[in-house]
Amino acid sequence: LGQRLIYKEQVTSTQIVAHDLARDGAEHGTVIVAREQTKGRGRMRRYWESKDGLGLWFSSILRPTGIEPKRASQLTLVAAVAIADYLSKYNLDVKIKWPNDLFINGKKLAGILTEMQAEQDAVEYIVLGIGINMNHDQQDLFESERNKATSLLLEAKQPFNLNTVLTELLFELEVKFDLFMSEGFSTIKGQWESYAYKLGEWVSVKTQTEWDAKICGIDEDGALMVMNQNHQVHHLYSAEILW
Ligand code: BTN
Repeated sequence: LGQRLIYKEQVTSTQIVAHDLARDGAEHGTVIVAREQTKGRGRMRRYWESKDGLGLWFSSILRPTGIEPKRASQLTLVAAVAIADYLSKYNLDVKIKWPNDLFINGKKLAGILTEMQAEQDAVEYIVLGIGINMNHDQQDLFESERNKATSLLLEAKQPFNLNTVLTELLFELEVKFDLFMSEGFSTIKGQWESYAYKLGEWVSVKTQTEWDAKICGIDEDGALMVMNQNHQVHHLYSAEILW
């Protein structure tokens, strides 16, 4: 990944730029990184705060061959494991909150947004967006988020070089994607579970309604497995784990 690396000072969203490039035929592995996003976007149409130079905001264009659209969501989990492996090198206790959040000490550090363009039964391309809070100190975090969000600086107590982290992380992502493409999701599943946030604990999940569930792990598809109060196991393909 990053054979072609495009740097921008300011964009609306690296996702938007990546989609434009992909539609124009940009090749697999093209990466767009920006110092600042004015309309950074998160999952569920949320706004993603992306201030100038404080974090790593980038999107990768992927053109995996022969993968069915329903497997595209597994890429989010694969990317999460790659990021968790990478950050663990700094002695950080990283957790993955299904499907796309990276947590340290109960606070959100990073998020992943996977967007797919598919035609009939074939994936045309995938834009995999990653946002990591890097050099924020307390005041740089949104006031409303100070007890919910964190940064690498706050957790590791050292500043990070954005370019170094980007280069090393792209390498880690590529290794994991290659493994996923050649061996399938099963090799990633166990790794993912070793990082699972609140595994075995009761949480509140939101599907159509909100209910209490115990997190049991993920299945072979990457769906979240939870148990309800009547001990029935559910496989969730789309849901939100609440705080
Ligand atoms: C989430 O936690 O909901 C996902 C956040 C993803 C943010 C990244 S930053 C780079 C890329 N560009 C965007 O606009 N969003 C993703």
